[in-house]
Amino acid sequence: MKNITVIGSGTMGNGIAHLFAQQGFSVALVDLYAEHLNKAMATINKNMDRQVNKGILSESQKMDALQRIQTHTDLATGVKHADLVVEAATENLEIKLELFRQLDQLAPASAILASNTSSISITQIAAVTQRPTHVIGMHFMNPVPVMKLVEVIRGYATSGQITAQIMQLSLQLDKVPVEVQDYPGFVANRILMPMINEAIYTLYEGVAGVSEIDTVMKLGMSHPMGPLQLADFIGLDVCLSILRVLYEGFGNPKYAPCPLLITMVTAGYKGVKSGEGFYCYPAGTKDFAVSPRFSK
Ligand code: CAA
Repeated sequence: MKNITVIGSGTMGNGIAHLFAQQGFSVALVDLYAEHLNKAMATINKNMDRQVNKGILSESQKMDALQRIQTHTDLATGVKHADLVVEAATENLEIKLELFRQLDQLAPASAILASNTSSISITQIAAVTQRPTHVIGMHFMNPVPVMKLVEVIRGYATSGQITAQIMQLSLQLDKVPVEVQDYPGFVANRILMPMINEAIYTLYEGVAGVSEIDTVMKLGMSHPMGPLQLADFIGLDVCLSILRVLYEGFGNPKYAPCPLLITMVTAGYKGVKSGEGFYCYPAGTKDFAVSPRFSK
């Protein structure tokens, strides 16, 4: 595989494009809007600078990697030469199904179509294409250049040969792939989201405050971020939508999202991306503090 097309230039899409370009692949990065693509390239540049400062990349390796990324607003042009498409568009079922219908028409017949979905069924996505054996989940973790895991999700019809190819490719990217079956939340979010939801319930019921809950999990369990900070980092809207997939997919009340999470998302408090969730994130600074709503 040489030519990789990444659909969507948000946090996950630009991280995935960064990773493939860094590892020597030609990348076509596709988004609906040129301004999103410009912002994504600036982010990749900034994140590669961190790697240059750490000695992970030299300045010339960085320039070569950036030159391997071409941006496109036209889907047909962007996928024309793809050996592999990695879709990282908005986490919405209808958007993904429509996109995969189009990708199936536009990408070369031999191309593998992967989705970075965090919770939507790969089997359901594959079923709208004429190549379900070639549709697979490639679930990267944020921040993509740093986190070692790729959760490789095998849909009901995904072939063993395609799964093996994607496992091998993930190793080539210097990641650790783990193969999982296609059931709600796969493995990562089936385990992570109930923990985050329970942390929100713990806050909602007044057992402890935001920084107390996060401190317990950071210092007691060696988590790099507490669950409430992690929820802000992932996006509270994303957490809510994954919990709903678990709740509906298993029909089990243990996955019911906490009312506080629903209220915060309804009010537009989505965490880092909106500037406030359990913490406040003032624009242009790295400082953050517990939201005054949750201060004692
Ligand atoms: N690109 C390149 N390098 C980056 C980076 C990026 N986007 N972001 C951070 N880094 C590097 C930094 O340069 C730094 O490098 P060194 O260790 O060599 O110094 C390192 O990563 C750590 O970064 P920071 O010092 O800025 O901050 P930190 O020590 O607090 O680490 C973190 C940041 C890696 C995000 C860490 O807090 C962490 O591991 N958090 C948990 C992340 C997590 O759980 N991710 C999964 C979320 S779930 C998901 O993505 C899937 C889903 O479906 C919801």
